Amino acid sequence: MSTQNRSVTLNNGVQMPILGFGVFQVPGEQTEQVVADALAAGYRAIDTAASYGNEEAVGRAIAASGIAREDLFVTTKMWIQHTGEDTAKREFEKSLRHLGLDYVDLYLIHQPLGDYYSSWRAMQKIYGEGWVKAIGVSNFYPDRLVDLITHNDIVPAVNQIETHPFFQRTADQQLMAEYGVQIESWGPFAEGKNDLFTNPALTGIGAAHGKSVAQVVLRWLIQRDVVVIPKSVKPERMAQNLDVFDFALTDDEMARIAALDTGTSLFFDHRDPQMVKWLGGRRVD
Ligand SMILES: NC(=O)c1ccc[n+]([C@@H]2O[C@H](COP(=O)([O-])OP(=O)(O)OC[C@H]3O[C@@H](n4cnc5c(N)ncnc54)[C@H](OP(=O)(O)O)[C@@H]3O)[C@@H](O)[C@H]2O)c1
Repeated sequence: MSTQNRSVTLNNGVQMPILGFGVFQVPGEQTEQVVADALAAGYRAIDTAASYGNEEAVGRAIAASGIAREDLFVTTKMWIQHTGEDTAKREFEKSLRHLGLDYVDLYLIHQPLGDYYSSWRAMQKIYGEGWVKAIGVSNFYPDRLVDLITHNDIVPAVNQIETHPFFQRTADQQLMAEYGVQIESWGPFAEGKNDLFTNPALTGIGAAHGKSVAQVVLRWLIQRDVVVIPKSVKPERMAQNLDVFDFALTDDEMARIAALDTGTSLFFDHRDPQMVKWLGGRRVD
């Protein structure tokens, strides 16, 4: 098995592994073991969030792993309820405490909702003080991203957005590249929606390479220079999802996957007023 990961260079020169591990919806009591298994499998980038309620378990697994801090890349995110200049700083310090770390590699605004301009000003300061290696955003559609960039000093290093074969975000990626923002996929498997794991085009391409659908999807994203953070609670799948650096998809295979794009979210639209209201009311403490 080849677990030869590679990195992307963010707009401030920081190196970020192109393949990491996500812990959304990992049950709280399982998270420490799951992250320990992921680190043992070879993952060195972990993606969590204050709203996942598992930063402490992630921190315990990191501490127990004995892996040198500089060899890890830890991302966490600030929830909507904590946007604002002072609250953002307090919330960041809380995440740091929960993780048991003295810096975070990447700190993201989780949603483009609430007073996130104030949060961004606080994050620029936190970054300037050296508590984070890079700052970025998540779930920003191009209009919100360009507005944030236009009215602030620091260009987000990353925008983490829903990206998978049924919602490919190629135009978003192109725009982000023009501004120097790295695209990062969440939900690379669309959480299995739309029968992704039995999709005939994807299974056919997998068969040609002796690879699973999951591996084909991750490889396709990596070949597009999209950072990926697949989630699995199963060690054999963790290993499988890392094993994507010993094959390459042909131009024809890339084009067949491109044809699966529906151009719409399989989850929800951050511009839907009902969803904006629901997310804004969600409390994470
Ligand atoms: N910024 C945001 O708003 C946002 C939103 C969603 C997610 N995220 C981040 O992105 C990460 C990944 O997204 P996600 O967790 O939503 O979904 P995902 O990675 O697209 O899919 C996870 C699902 O795929 C299954 N799976 C994993 N590997 C597999 C394999 N090799 N074969 C078959 N099934 C496999 C998992 O099952 P098992 O666990 O049972 O293996 C789980 O049901 C999250 O964990 C989180 O860190 C961010």
